[in-house]
Amino acid sequence: MNTVSHLLESISDVGRDSARGGYSRQVFSTPELELREWFTAEASKRGLEVSTDRNGIMWGWWDTASGNRTGALVTGSHLDSVPGGGAFDGPLGVAAALAAVDELKERGVEPRRGLAVAVFPEEEGSRFGIACLGSRLLTGAIDADRVRNLKDPAGNTFADVSRANGLDPAHLGRDEEALRTIGDFVELHVEQGRALIDLDAPVGVGSSILGHGRWRLSVEGQGNHAGTTLMAHRADPMIVAAQIVLAIRRVAEGQDDARATVGRLQPVPGGTNVIASRVDLWLDVRHPDNSVTAALVESIHGQAQKAAAFEGCSVTLTEESFSSTVQFDSTLQRQLQNSLSQSNGNLPVPTLPTGAGHDAGVLAGYVPSGMVYIRNPTGISHSPEEFVERSDADLASTALADVLEDLL
Ligand code: GLV
Ligand code: MN
Ligand code: MN
Repeated sequence: MNTVSHLLESISDVGRDSARGGYSRQVFSTPELELREWFTAEASKRGLEVSTDRNGIMWGWWDTASGNRTGALVTGSHLDSVPGGGAFDGPLGVAAALAAVDELKERGVEPRRGLAVAVFPEEEGSRFGIACLGSRLLTGAIDADRVRNLKDPAGNTFADVSRANGLDPAHLGRDEEALRTIGDFVELHVEQGRALIDLDAPVGVGSSILGHGRWRLSVEGQGNHAGTTLMAHRADPMIVAAQIVLAIRRVAEGQDDARATVGRLQPVPGGTNVIASRVDLWLDVRHPDNSVTAALVESIHGQAQKAAAFEGCSVTLTEESFSSTVQFDSTLQRQLQNSLSQSNGNLPVPTLPTGAGHDAGVLAGYVPSGMVYIRNPTGISHSPEEFVERSDADLASTALADVLEDLL
């Protein structure tokens, strides 16, 4: 039997980022395609029937004798990463699902309904800008036309990239047939904060996902020469961008439970001796209450406009994506807690809210969905320092197998 830690070790060289550290596994990049091949091989080895659907989601099916896939139990996660991400965000849930299939087979479990392991593409949105693109397409939560026209930083459209990878862009979008197969969805994931460390618990159950969204602020100024343009004659969008970044910190610090981040900023054209003509910056804001998020973004926009006017620049704000706060299905939550508690000497299993987005959060709007978190002793994520102990990684598959066995 392959343990979760063995499975993760077998992909530990794929997509290492020597410049940033950690892993960079963008959707449809060479490393992500290599991980798709790895998934196909590992799932096939377990007798699962592997296919890729019209939205690029991979499925590994363990069918019942009837072959009926309606209302199946689906588990899985994603294999793409943020730039310079950790080894566990995504792959832990996929590896645990594969190893849980091994455990269920060893236990002699005969599924009473279909069981599938799913891999969702572009969960991080690190290539095309919108997170959970696979689950948003599957459910119709995003307009397929919009997705076809999304561009990566090199200017390739999603339509072109998906076509080059065997998909028909005309067939992207809500997939009734695939949706009908999902009776319940359970995603196992590395915890991305400190809750389980502080509770001294290896496993937790997800209760909610904080509402979150992404906005682009584009500041336009006058590109010019760094040596010949006097300071008094500049309309420099970088100066405005710097003030916007500081304003964002101030605005978020003034609001309970708010998180706001600029993790990506791009000067155009981006030369050391060039005053930029435009600076794009991407804003990530999270808060439980949509109206508070809207007010925070409006306040940031107002301050950005003021800073831009003072410098002789202009600024435009574009919403790129938004997801309201999600409460996971309460029945499924209880079932996950009961299963995990029974296999853990009847100890109570904590329920955790999270500030991180997941495909389970998108699917929760359409089918009962839940999450299982595994302790991360650094409490750090979206960074090479993200970590899971070998013993906890291996416990993940047993925990997931317990949950799946009860739900099957
Ligand atoms: C995904 O990990 C997100 O929360 O941005
Ligand atoms: Mn993830
Ligand atoms: Mn992530």
